[in-house]
Amino acid sequence: MSPNAPITVGVIFGGQSGEHEVSLMSVQSVLAALDPARYTPLLMGIDKQGRWIFHRPLEALLAGERAGADAPRWPPPAILDQVDILFPVLHGPNGEDGVIQGFFELAGKPYVGNGVLASAVAMDKALAKRVFQAHGLPQTPWVTIHREQLQHAPAYVLARVEAELTYPMFTKPANLGSSVGVRKVAHQEALLAGLREAASYDTILVVEQAVPHAREIEVAVLGNEQPRVSIPGEIIPGHEFYDYEAKYFSDRSQERIPAPISPALTAQVQQMALRAFRAIHGSGLARVDFLLNDATGEVFLNEINTMPGFTRISMFPKLWMASGLSYPELIHELIQLGFQRHAQRSVPVLEYSDQ
Ligand SMILES: Nc1ncnc2c1ncn2[C@@H]1O[C@H](COP(=O)(O)OP(=O)(O)O)[C@@H](O)[C@H]1O
Ligand SMILES: [Mg+2]
Repeated sequence: MSPNAPITVGVIFGGQSGEHEVSLMSVQSVLAALDPARYTPLLMGIDKQGRWIFHRPLEALLAGERAGADAPRWPPPAILDQVDILFPVLHGPNGEDGVIQGFFELAGKPYVGNGVLASAVAMDKALAKRVFQAHGLPQTPWVTIHREQLQHAPAYVLARVEAELTYPMFTKPANLGSSVGVRKVAHQEALLAGLREAASYDTILVVEQAVPHAREIEVAVLGNEQPRVSIPGEIIPGHEFYDYEAKYFSDRSQERIPAPISPALTAQVQQMALRAFRAIHGSGLARVDFLLNDATGEVFLNEINTMPGFTRISMFPKLWMASGLSYPELIHELIQLGFQRHAQRSVPVLEYSDQ
């Protein structure tokens, strides 16, 4: 690669995930913002069966086409050799959970965003909670349940949850996102139904005590070893809570940027966002979501998203725009952070001798 040649960015999108369509929206914004003087995109699409498309992939996936049954499940070396860095614009399982990041590591390629560990921990709500707890980050009380326990001893599970938490509660599958399988439950029958629904998505389930008078505050983080934080934003869901419908289909959800909260609360959520990012060993980017009890002023960490929605109108880019970083600058910085992380992690090979 000559110093002035544009960098080839392997942009990966679609994916075998419930958030396939979100990815298709995100990638169009990313492509529109890539500075052509610096970057040449090489597009790679993944269909809903997890097969890769390299010929006009965006058109194909937008049209709902599938790759052939013999299409590869990862890029062949001849394609990988053409790219300088990979940019997974993927949400949910296989894209945001460390799986594809493991492939990038094996291929020895720089990539944008979080590594294997941070992605995997953040994707598993049960594990992320343990990590945040160890770092003293405040969270609403919760209980973790294995699907097996629910199947074999539902009465015991209900008794345990009711002994530790009070209604209303939220039932969630540990993995997923986009509010899929998340329910608010106010009594035992609904709790059992909510747990069963969550169990249809995952083997590990989480029940949380609902934060009363909840306001949803989000902060964007950008960087590797010295991450910085955006101003906080607020989501005001049109529905009772920020469910899948509200996220992607309802126009009643509103955003406030900056979030109308006090300077002290602003500083508190910003500091907590950095601590959460560091706790999972984050790199590149994350959106950290909080639940604020508006009656008491208590702030709880809800979750960290390692590949947040990325369209030009998504919260993550908007928070940066409001903090003085344009969308094209944000993309540029993310790519540079990917190269930087790769260089820092590439430690020299040590040779050991027996003597
Ligand atoms: N403990 C809670 N208290 C109050 N509201 C909650 C709680 N947990 C989840 N919610 C609501 O449900 C939505 C989805 O839950 P979340 O844990 O963010 O799932 P996902 O990972 O699918 O986005 C949140 O944005 C919020 O509106
Ligand atoms: Mg969420």
